[in-house]
Amino acid sequence: MPNSCFHGGIYSVNPDLVKLDFSSSVNPLGISKVVLKAIHKSIDSLSSVYPDPECRELKKGILEYLRLDLDRDWISVGNGAIEIIHNFARAFVRNKVVIPVPTFCEYELASKLMNAQITFVPLKNLNIDAESIIRRAKDSDAIYLCNPNNPTGLLSSNNIKKILESVTYPTIVLLDESFIELVSKGGMSDSIVGKIEEFDNLVILRSLTKSFGLAGLRVGYSICNPKLGKKLSSYQIPWNVNGIAQSAAACALKDYRHLTKARALIEKERRFMQSYIKRKTKSFVPLVSNVNYFLIRLKNIKSTKLRNFLLNRDGILVRDCVTFNGLESGEYVRVSVKKHDDNALLLQALESIDL
Ligand SMILES: Cc1ncc(COP(=O)(O)O)c(C=O)c1O
Repeated sequence: MPNSCFHGGIYSVNPDLVKLDFSSSVNPLGISKVVLKAIHKSIDSLSSVYPDPECRELKKGILEYLRLDLDRDWISVGNGAIEIIHNFARAFVRNKVVIPVPTFCEYELASKLMNAQITFVPLKNLNIDAESIIRRAKDSDAIYLCNPNNPTGLLSSNNIKKILESVTYPTIVLLDESFIELVSKGGMSDSIVGKIEEFDNLVILRSLTKSFGLAGLRVGYSICNPKLGKKLSSYQIPWNVNGIAQSAAACALKDYRHLTKARALIEKERRFMQSYIKRKTKSFVPLVSNVNYFLIRLKNIKSTKLRNFLLNRDGILVRDCVTFNGLESGEYVRVSVKKHDDNALLLQALESIDL
């Protein structure tokens, strides 16, 4: 279908049917209480005063959080990471782009809206095919990399590094690290953020909607050298990030405990879920992901049928992956990792329909 992109979430189906949403992969602990308290306290002024169009305080907070000793013009803030993906395409995409698949569909949509020719490079055994991407990157305006990849999970950081070292300006790389903070212990070392100064053609993308549970408030940001940043920001509308979102984001970045707690819960619960599915079912196969969601390969039922069945019988929503480029065969659903009691309900539901 031209110019369309599908997402999970309760509005992807009849929202009245959803009791438990395993299709959105956000922090299982939701928004932190510290952040909630802070925005409650100043909701009056935050609502009635124009926000800072430059997001100065937030950018300062982002640089501190990332431990980067850089000026704030290395950061652009968006109404969710999604805004930056579309601004990136407007700024840098003219003719050709390379996208490894399956992946998040907005890269494709944003590039199609710029009438770009897209080369899709399939993942190889759930990992990025660095050689093929490097070969096809020649004469391309941009490459989109997503690590952890949605929907498959953490990719090999060596392959990402290989691509970044081989692909040079004027080809620009968008590296989407929206889920990296939710990777299990040690996973954060896969981030390239600390090396950003080494690249003149790299835009790294982060999101607070997932890691910090701010999906409804919508905040994402990018880090890149100011030359690229200036071009990127020129496509931004004024006051693109509202005052409540700016304040909540700045506060969330300081509440590191919330993120650490969520990461530990995710690792424990993902292990529990995957081992349960392996031990107790025959027709569901969980795939390694290292993050707060994972794919389940279905042996005896198609993904759309399973999604609809679980939704109608139990009010449980899983992500039907049939709309992902490369997963059209209907053999996969993606589930997020939630709190223990919720996860147990999903597992029981799967077990009860094991075929
Ligand atoms: C890989 C990836 N990047 C970016 C986004 C968009 O994030 P945001 O909610 O910050 O716009 C999503 C949303 O699902 C995603 O999966």
